Amino acid sequence: MFPPTCLCFLLFQFFASATGAAVSSNDTLTPTESIIDGQIVVSVGNNYALGFFSPDNSSYRYLGIWLHRIPEILVVWVANRDNPLNDSSGVASLALDGNLIVSSINDRRCPLWSTNVSISDNTTILKLHDSGNLVLYSGGRTNRILWQSFDHPTHILLPGMKFGLDRRPGLNRVLTSWRSKDDPGRGIYSFGFDQRGSPQAIVNNGSAQIWRTGPWNGQRFSGVPQMTQSSIFNYAFANTTDELYFVFNINSSSIFSLFALNDSGLIHQITWIKSNRRWSKINLVSIEKCDIYGYCGAYGSCRMQMTVNCDCLPGFQPKSPIDWLTERKDACVRKRPLGCGKGDGFLKLVGLKLPDTSMSLVDKNLSLKECERRCLNNCSCTAYAPADITGKGSGCITWFGKLMDIRYFSYGGDHLYLRVDAVELAAQERKDKGFFHNKHKVAILMVSFVVGLLLFPASAYHLLKKRKGSMEKRQRRRRILLFDFLTKKNFSTTNELDDNGTNPELPFIELDVVAAATDNFSPNNKLGRGGFGAVYKGRMSNGKEIAVKRLSKNSGQGMEEFKNEIILIAKLQHRNLVRLLGYSLQEEEKMLIYEYMPNKSLDSFIFDKNKRLLLDWRKRFQIIMGIARGVLYLHEDSRLRIIHRDLKASNVLLDEEMIPKISDFGMARIFGGDQIQAHTNNVVGTYGYMSPEYAMQGLFSIKSDVFSFGVLLLEIISGKKNKEYFDEDPSMNLIGHVWELWKEGRALEIVDSTMADNYLAHEVSRCIQVGLLCVQESALDRPTMTSVIFMLGNEKKMPTPNQPNLIIKRALRGQDSSTTGTGSCSINEVTITVLDPR
Ligand SMILES: *[C@@H]1O[C@H](CO)[C@@H](O)[C@H](O)[C@H]1NC(C)=O
Ligand SMILES: *[C@@H]1O[C@H](CO)[C@@H](O)[C@H](O)[C@H]1NC(C)=O
Ligand SMILES: *[C@@H]1O[C@H](CO)[C@@H](O)[C@H](O)[C@H]1NC(C)=O
Ligand SMILES: *[C@@H]1O[C@H](CO)[C@@H](O)[C@H](O)[C@H]1NC(C)=O
Ligand SMILES: *[C@@H]1O[C@H](CO)[C@@H](O)[C@H](O)[C@H]1NC(C)=O
Ligand SMILES: *[C@@H]1O[C@H](CO)[C@@H](O)[C@H](O)[C@H]1NC(C)=O
Ligand SMILES: *[C@@H]1O[C@H](CO)[C@@H](O)[C@H](O)[C@H]1NC(C)=O
Ligand SMILES: *[C@@H]1O[C@H](CO)[C@@H](O)[C@H](O)[C@H]1NC(C)=O
Ligand SMILES: *[C@@H]1O[C@H](CO)[C@@H](O)[C@H](O)[C@H]1NC(C)=O
Ligand SMILES: *[C@@H]1O[C@H](CO)[C@@H](O)[C@H](O)[C@H]1NC(C)=O
Ligand SMILES: *[C@@H]1O[C@H](CO)[C@@H](O)[C@H](O)[C@H]1NC(C)=O
Repeated sequence: MFPPTCLCFLLFQFFASATGAAVSSNDTLTPTESIIDGQIVVSVGNNYALGFFSPDNSSYRYLGIWLHRIPEILVVWVANRDNPLNDSSGVASLALDGNLIVSSINDRRCPLWSTNVSISDNTTILKLHDSGNLVLYSGGRTNRILWQSFDHPTHILLPGMKFGLDRRPGLNRVLTSWRSKDDPGRGIYSFGFDQRGSPQAIVNNGSAQIWRTGPWNGQRFSGVPQMTQSSIFNYAFANTTDELYFVFNINSSSIFSLFALNDSGLIHQITWIKSNRRWSKINLVSIEKCDIYGYCGAYGSCRMQMTVNCDCLPGFQPKSPIDWLTERKDACVRKRPLGCGKGDGFLKLVGLKLPDTSMSLVDKNLSLKECERRCLNNCSCTAYAPADITGKGSGCITWFGKLMDIRYFSYGGDHLYLRVDAVELAAQERKDKGFFHNKHKVAILMVSFVVGLLLFPASAYHLLKKRKGSMEKRQRRRRILLFDFLTKKNFSTTNELDDNGTNPELPFIELDVVAAATDNFSPNNKLGRGGFGAVYKGRMSNGKEIAVKRLSKNSGQGMEEFKNEIILIAKLQHRNLVRLLGYSLQEEEKMLIYEYMPNKSLDSFIFDKNKRLLLDWRKRFQIIMGIARGVLYLHEDSRLRIIHRDLKASNVLLDEEMIPKISDFGMARIFGGDQIQAHTNNVVGTYGYMSPEYAMQGLFSIKSDVFSFGVLLLEIISGKKNKEYFDEDPSMNLIGHVWELWKEGRALEIVDSTMADNYLAHEVSRCIQVGLLCVQESALDRPTMTSVIFMLGNEKKMPTPNQPNLIIKRALRGQDSSTTGTGSCSINEVTITVLDPR
């Protein structure tokens, strides 16, 4: 930045000591002080340090700011990035003109870098703030900010740092990548705002645009659907006459996070979780091809399925199908010219990243209806969208000319109203009509079926009788509730999910039957209590024991979760899943009736000082395998892809023979066949078992279940709870401890001492390694349940696990209490089948 030509600055005074690596505890630098290489200045809260450093494989020295309390040094700002020092003769000091300069101690008159503000004030003060901001103040009484490092970012965006433009002094805060890992010099990638149209932040490779965030839609950037406000992370965007900026803040003392533009042009969100003592990197921009600017050309749209899929937007077609395969640029053309007001209309495209807004117009005052009219009235308007999606949506973005860089997301995304010609519009309407027709047909079929049942009660009776169970026989009345029937239409194919070829029918049980069985919900029969309500033991008149989950009226589990659980579990039949026997529904009362598990839940064994003695290694191994099979069935074999989302010891019940049964599907989600990941704003689950990507970003997939399974496996082996382990060192949880021991080849020390030496060392080692593979930080690295079962059961070579990433209670507490809004213990109580209240 600063030319190495000799501009002469007079230094104020010589330095206190020329040698030694004394660490200064002061966070300010006054005109009489300097920092020489080897000394550092530390911010008041001890978070940041300012001093000289060398990148890993470099001998050059730079003045920089790094995070101080974190053992792995992460440099967040560099002063003389383009003019390094050859040796350790560097010094940072305040020059006579008041600027901060970096120079060699031997040649202080010829600085390598300077803050270069035109002031003439020999009383300036430099202060390193606890936010990481290095501020140069004018001295004396004014205390005016003359310069600050937050206005001159390098490659990192810190919390509280405004990213973007300050129009008053004409300042543009742009991130610029390092040249390489070893060279902090300005690299080819930059990340900054494009203020044209609806402003968006752009990553440039030299002068070529390679990625854009998309416009701010009032809640997030259109191209970053995983960006969600939470009580820990909050984001703000502003566009005023004075400023255009994005800023984020973190409201937690246990998590620290920043955004970095790495030397390959990728933006990472890098997070430090105290308990884990290392950085975890999450790609903000996925490396998917669809993220590459304009990958599918103008009027094209990109979709990630098994591979990258380019399509032309509705109303467009490839100019030449052959070119389309190779060179996609500008390959989509209109099928027919627009009618220009005559018959044109708009199609609503859903779940996408809004096209490049640099050539768009924004009017915040228009309603969506007015927006449509405005677009329709101008022949060159190709699309429109609301400018702010908050609430019902407001404001108006209109596009003129080419629509560039549209991609679809598998979750989230915005709506775009695309202008199409009359023919296309009619074709689409026909399609929609056809769709409604079909829906009608379904409805008519359903109605006639129900009517049929009503008209021919005898046949209905026989139909039901065929599927009788011993309990159902004694029911006083049977009904197929329309509700029950309707839910089944969610599964387009019948007779799926069935191990034994029968179509499971879930009986409705009258409330008074349930009340009688549980002795009118007597407290004596209460097995436990969870956030959604209490669980009672019951005995039907035939002697069969049942467990009744009575959902409290004001429980978090509303109709939605109730239906969810019924739909899911009624369809699932597996030896390692708990069986739902029926349900009861009467006004406010919602109840689920399960088979009774005399041995209660797994956590009542493994974490109990006496009962754990009953579990020898063979039993534990069988339990591990049983759970694994149950999860595999959910993930793969049931043909519906089901993510449980709340696997934990208290959700695994044990029958008489200690066969594990996974329970509690209130949280589970069904995935479409090709869907691999989903996103939720409502992170629920149990700390200690939540994968980092789920806890931090709300992303869940089968791999988040694999993570929970890994935790569970290690808990079963060790008899220790992940979340409560090592109280004397809260930064270490069970996973961290296992990992440390495993690295040193001492993993077997973790084995529950009650098993003494009565286990097969190689089998236990194998399980521990599988556990560690399951809790790896990157979801991609974690094995699938198929591999897990294979690895558990076969003496084959296994991959070496990477260091896990852990989130323990301290990291999540802040988030817990506010996502569920009921205090710090709420997350634990999201589950119902807590048969072991302790
Ligand atoms: C320093 O500032 C002056 C004016 O304030 C400007 O002309 C000069 O280019 C700047 N030098 C550098 C290296 O930024
Ligand atoms: C810290 O600042 C005080 C006064 O501001 C000064 O007396 C002291 O020498 C400084 N300490 C170091 C280590 O620079
Ligand atoms: C440093 O360079 C050496 C040799 O060139 C290389 O083996 C090593 O991996 C490098 N270290 C880092 C951290 O880049
Ligand atoms: C770095 O070293 C080279 C030769 O070793 C010398 O010519 C150059 O002036 C030095 N640069 C700085 C900034 O010290
Ligand atoms: C600052 O400069 C003024 C004159 O320009 C001088 O009188 C004063 O002593 C200087 N202050 C310091 C701390 O050197
Ligand atoms: C930049 O990010 C990519 C993708 O995550 C990664 O492969 C690469 O190693 C990163 N570069 C550095 C220097 O970390
Ligand atoms: C950036 O541009 C360079 C040179 O044109 C190219 O080699 C490199 O692959 C580009 N990087 C990305 C991420 O597009
Ligand atoms: C930050 O957290 C504190 C308590 O942890 C809470 O009172 C406050 O409202 C939070 N602030 C935001 C902006 O979420
Ligand atoms: C952003 O602010 C500038 C300056 O006030 C204004 O001209 C522009 O229209 C604004 N853009 C949007 C999308 O609000
Ligand atoms: C938008 O509406 C507000 C009040 O409704 C008005 O003050 C403002 O001038 C309008 N802006 C434009 C650009 O029409
Ligand atoms: C249509 O909009 C464009 C872009 O704003 C404008 O240049 C043109 O004059 C408008 N045409 C009509 C007929 O309003």
